[in-house]
Amino acid sequence: MEAGADAVNESVRYLTETDSTNTWAKAHLQEFGPIGAVYTTSQTAGRGRLGRTWVDAPGKALYYTVVLKTPLVQPSTLPLFSSLAVAEALEQRYGVQCRIKWPNDLLLNGKKVVGILCEGAPDGHSLLSGIGINLAQDQAYFDAAGLPYGTSLALQGVKVDLDTDPEWLAQYMTDFGFDRALYTYEVEGFAPYRDRYKALCVNLGRPVTFDGGCGTAVDVDEEGRLVVQTDTGETRVFTGEVSVRGIYGAV
Ligand code: BTN
Repeated sequence: MEAGADAVNESVRYLTETDSTNTWAKAHLQEFGPIGAVYTTSQTAGRGRLGRTWVDAPGKALYYTVVLKTPLVQPSTLPLFSSLAVAEALEQRYGVQCRIKWPNDLLLNGKKVVGILCEGAPDGHSLLSGIGINLAQDQAYFDAAGLPYGTSLALQGVKVDLDTDPEWLAQYMTDFGFDRALYTYEVEGFAPYRDRYKALCVNLGRPVTFDGGCGTAVDVDEEGRLVVQTDTGETRVFTGEVSVRGIYGAV
């Protein structure tokens, strides 16, 4: 084990700091079993979706990546499945009910508290789900980072304990959000989770804009795609950015 890395247990590793937990997991893939995770509270080169950066908040946020080596029947739905795993952990720890902005942002009071970046691993078959949870940044942090629609759990009135919550959340997500649920998810895919996802999805029933069009989001299909009713018919969105009227300032 390298300097700065401590094993919490066999499957969840803690790093005092790293560039990006997704990058670290890719570089240390052979050290993980069928399911394992790595987390830190300080990332120097965090990465977000669509090539964006994920700004560091040293000691104030959780940066976590789970590595899944077992084959999944529907790997494309991992972002949606991951959002449910995080929502469950936050509900268990804090009693809060987040909503989900398709495909995988978690919102509290309409603002983003969690971002998720799923990627393939260099071995060509393992998958990574990288999760950033804003625990206790203050408003000045989001103002300075130019993130008007970002927030932290603490800013939304949640009592966060920075000494114990990162480890608890990392362990819970690994053991219950992912490992336990994988028995079902890896063989049945998104279907058993679809109703729960739809109940939390803020897009449904609202006007949305996506790359190439706009309409009303009417469903999340069995493949995890957002179904949008447009003037010219139904479109299924499977990638890219979707803005929802009333969320993140979209009009
Ligand atoms: C997004 O753009 O909303 C996704 C952000 C994902 C950030 C997490 S933090 C842990 C993991 N490591 C990274 O570099 N990115 C993901």
